[in-house]
Amino acid sequence: MTPILELENISKSFPGVKALDNVHFSMEAGEVHALLGENGAGKSTLIKIISGVHKPDTGVIRWEGQPTVFNNPREAQARGVATIYQELSLYPELTVAENIFMGHAPKRSLGPLKVIDWNAINTRALELLHSLNIHDMDVSRKVGTLNVGNRQRVEIAKALSINARVLIMDEPTAALTEADVERLFGIVRILKQRGVAIIYISHRLQEVFELADRVTVLRDGQYVNTKPVSETTEPELVSMMVGRTIDNLFPKLTSNPGKTVLEVRNLNRGSTTRNVSFTVRAGEIVGMAGLVGSGRSETAQVIFGIAPADSGEILVDGQRVNIKSAGQAVKLGLAYVPEDRGTQGLIKQMNIRENASLAVLKALSRASFINFNGERKLATDAIQQMSIRAYSAEQVVNKLSGGNQQKVVISKWLASKPKLLIMDEPTRGIDVGAKSEIHRLMSELAVQQGLAVLMISSELPEVLGMSDRVLVMREGRIAAEFTREEATQERVVTAMMSEAVKVE
Ligand SMILES: Nc1ncnc2c1ncn2[C@@H]1O[C@H](COP(=O)(O)OP(=O)(O)OP(=O)(O)O)[C@@H](O)[C@H]1O
Ligand SMILES: [Mg+2]
Repeated sequence: MTPILELENISKSFPGVKALDNVHFSMEAGEVHALLGENGAGKSTLIKIISGVHKPDTGVIRWEGQPTVFNNPREAQARGVATIYQELSLYPELTVAENIFMGHAPKRSLGPLKVIDWNAINTRALELLHSLNIHDMDVSRKVGTLNVGNRQRVEIAKALSINARVLIMDEPTAALTEADVERLFGIVRILKQRGVAIIYISHRLQEVFELADRVTVLRDGQYVNTKPVSETTEPELVSMMVGRTIDNLFPKLTSNPGKTVLEVRNLNRGSTTRNVSFTVRAGEIVGMAGLVGSGRSETAQVIFGIAPADSGEILVDGQRVNIKSAGQAVKLGLAYVPEDRGTQGLIKQMNIRENASLAVLKALSRASFINFNGERKLATDAIQQMSIRAYSAEQVVNKLSGGNQQKVVISKWLASKPKLLIMDEPTRGIDVGAKSEIHRLMSELAVQQGLAVLMISSELPEVLGMSDRVLVMREGRIAAEFTREEATQERVVTAMMSEAVKVE
């Protein structure tokens, strides 16, 4: 059978980096083909070549056996290449239906004019969603009011509103809850049955085994191998990706917690933070589990001074504090790694050196000038410690791969030498090698330097693997608390889910 799509000897360079070097790739109809590799390996670049965003420097793309050139995304779309990028691209102010048909809305004649047919848009959007087995979405609702899982379903419907033959998904599950992941897999299986070829990028290996037929691994822009999933194993894939084996994803050291660094008493804000009380001690990692929307990030933002509390007390080192801004929180020794690296964590037009030192500028600068050498040392240390893939500390952050941007955010906050570090989904979108490094660093900072860590995570193995204590939030409240010994997967999940299990 001729593959739908074939890439041969594809190379692509950006200033200072060869992102792809002689890469091969092929897709058959009805196949789920996983694309794996470390952060910066070239995955997003490869799919941007398939979707017409980048043109390869050398190499051939064949579409149903015929050499083809995609000059821009529209030409790729016209052939049936639909793409869901790493960063979602919906308009929050428009409705579900408007987003789905953005740019190719059905039109009707009004005298000599062609006008957008609003009724048709809503009906067609509903049909499309139904064909994906999505029956619980209001198509006239503004996308900005939807949760992440639903926004992604809209994104998929939008991608499929053209007649897709190849669907590309770049880390679709990075921001999803387990329930949403299951629904996504259901949609992928429907598409597969229809003969759509799916390219699936993920850093979660178990998903590859659950979903994919074949897997291709890239390393440092080079093609490593393509294998049927049934003929490979997780350790083999890891060593293909990183060139070595990783024995421990959760290198947790035994901790000996000291005095209480953070105490929160009866904290309230709206419906997302309700009577929240807990402590975090020096040297202790407290994991915070919960469904998306349970109020974990919102509570962290109240503590960090981003959103003011309605009532309640926050104590740092036993002293009552009144934190009104993130700047005040930093002065008190708090640091916060936000979950959304794109908008909250980085100034994307600045380079790594400038970003890495943002939180510590005060300590580095004497009088009014900034200590350039200090800044540079910070950045080069971070690049080494976290193996950030960049040609130098001067590289502008928005030219880094998604996972490498996340590493810059983390190193920025570690550099501020906080007493208390709040990490929100610290390893989302991070490759296995770097994930184990970040966990090791977190545990070392806690045990050796007495750092208090509050870690919000939707990945249960991470919560169970790294936490000394586990808090579970549900509907804005602390629903349960477990010691490391008590915290089993079953107990934590039960506490996350019980009572109202809501769709939205
Ligand atoms: N527009 C660009 N300009 C300059 N360099 C770029 C650009 N896009 C990507 N790169 C570089 O190309 C390399 C590959 O990046 P790519 O985004 O393809 O990685 P990735 O495999 O998708 O990683 P991740 O898992 O972190 O998303 C990286 O070194 C990145 O910095
Ligand atoms: Mg990427």
